[in-house]
Amino acid sequence: MIIGIPAEIKNREHRVALIPEGARALVEDGHQVLVEQGAGAGSGFSDKEYTDAGAMIVASAADAWAAELVVKVKEPLPREYQFLRPGLGLFTFLHLAACPELLQVLLEKKVLAIGYETVQTDDGRLPLLAPMSQVAGRLATQIGASLLQSENGTQWPGRGVLMGGVANVKPANVLILGGGNVGRSAAEVAIGMGAIVHILEARVESVAALRQHFGQRCEVRFFAQQMMFEALDECDLLIGAALVPGAHAPHLLTSSFLERMPDGSVFMDVAIDQGGISETSRPTSYEQPVYVESGVLHCCLPNLPSAVPVSSTQALTAETFPYIRLLAQAGMVSAIREHRSLRRSVNTWDGQITHPAVAEAAGMPYEPLSL
Ligand SMILES: NC(=O)c1ccc[n+]([C@@H]2O[C@H](COP(=O)([O-])OP(=O)(O)OC[C@H]3O[C@@H](n4cnc5c(N)ncnc54)[C@H](O)[C@@H]3O)[C@@H](O)[C@H]2O)c1
Repeated sequence: MIIGIPAEIKNREHRVALIPEGARALVEDGHQVLVEQGAGAGSGFSDKEYTDAGAMIVASAADAWAAELVVKVKEPLPREYQFLRPGLGLFTFLHLAACPELLQVLLEKKVLAIGYETVQTDDGRLPLLAPMSQVAGRLATQIGASLLQSENGTQWPGRGVLMGGVANVKPANVLILGGGNVGRSAAEVAIGMGAIVHILEARVESVAALRQHFGQRCEVRFFAQQMMFEALDECDLLIGAALVPGAHAPHLLTSSFLERMPDGSVFMDVAIDQGGISETSRPTSYEQPVYVESGVLHCCLPNLPSAVPVSSTQALTAETFPYIRLLAQAGMVSAIREHRSLRRSVNTWDGQITHPAVAEAAGMPYEPLSL
């Protein structure tokens, strides 16, 4: 199979979808790997490392997109829509619930679009989203802590609160909505920094597991709106981490809810890639990461892991590579037919939406995958 690795073009996206070691293994399996010039540079991999591994460096995005299977990190942007075509296999983060325009194009162009975030194992885990969520959760706390400073590098001063407090001064209050991979990782770092941490989680089994994991180190409760209001009144750093796989993020917050938070407090909406958990959330970029609404600094970066591309690329490709190899070895249709976790992750095929939550979020018909 011919596998294409285009350079990422999203704002300051420095990750790459395949590392040279992965390219070597695919070439040894008998496949051809086309890597766009410079695609690995942001993650510390030179073109020479890819050619040494047996991949071919191609000069343009069009050359990489000409492959049968294109593997990326982030969803295709409008500049890339020209490369989409019937029969193309696309394996990447898609987050279509937040991007109806891309969904339309994938349907019109009859692309076989497989979303990393919807690869789901029989026990409900999301193995390809998990590593990036662990990175994003840790970063959300790190970045949130620095935005809380009065001098935070933006035009909007934070509340001026130190995460861990100091002798005779209370630490910051951190509220995390959703206790999955993002929430748990964000909590670990916040606890490590000495903050007082609360997690509100919607699944009873997850509440029990989180309590077991954190013990006395943080307070974990079942999500209830009243509970959230009480926590918001004293919240310095709020982290949005709720997810229903494939669907639009649950809408948990309005501007009047956020007004309960002290002025200059910080809201990191990590769930922005699925549309965000607040009516006040809209995607931001590394050029302008922050805006203020209801007196609260909002930071809604849809590609947080790109801030640490060396770590993120290693973490992502370690999980995606076995699936890439499977798609290439068995052929895309056979791989999807034989592996339930891959089958669940097909978002569009032959002009149909084949993922129920994506269809529901778009208000369009769902067509069970027919092979
Ligand atoms: N911005 C970024 O760069 C970035 C990076 C990675 C992940 N994400 C996003 O972060 C979000 C969370 O991802 P994750 O891997 O932690 O998902 P996850 O499935 O591991 O955890 C989500 C948790 O939210 C809980 N939940 C669902 N509805 C809820 C509600 N109404 N109230 C409270 N909890 C609720 C679920 O029970 C689950 O435990 C996703 O939208 C994901 O795409 C963003």
